[in-house]
Amino acid sequence: MQVELYERIWLWAAGVLIVAFLGAILLTTATQAVEPPSHVETLDPTTLATHPEFGTPAVARRPDGSVVVTVVASMFDFGPDIEVPAHAPVTFRLTSADVVHGFQIVGTNANAMAVPGYVSQFTVTFDAPGEHTIACNEYCGLLHHAMVGKVIVK
Ligand code: CUA
Repeated sequence: MQVELYERIWLWAAGVLIVAFLGAILLTTATQAVEPPSHVETLDPTTLATHPEFGTPAVARRPDGSVVVTVVASMFDFGPDIEVPAHAPVTFRLTSADVVHGFQIVGTNANAMAVPGYVSQFTVTFDAPGEHTIACNEYCGLLHHAMVGKVIVK
């Protein structure tokens, strides 16, 4: 059976794409190239408990009125409720103690990944007082659906 030239070109093009996509998957698997897309800063997840910053996650107010919030996500918890002021830049610095977690502050555009070994950082300003749920949006285990936290804006 003779295959039309036009059809053969498309068969080859589809074949090349499939090989390229499979290659991309295998390459990222082999190199473990999983890292947060923003502000790549590393730390040792095995010594997190004694880390000067992440050993004692807290909400710290700077002299200029801005706020830095340190968060350690772990199965299946974001730590205590986070209390921050409205109308001030709030910088979140997060990492994970175990597996990849999501950190989405519902109702805002704040959304980042908590990846073990890395610090994810972003800054957000809350316009009004209120309460926001923090949702984990990366599947992290059996109780992933129950992994929620709270941001209280005063
Ligand atoms: Cu943590 Cu899903």
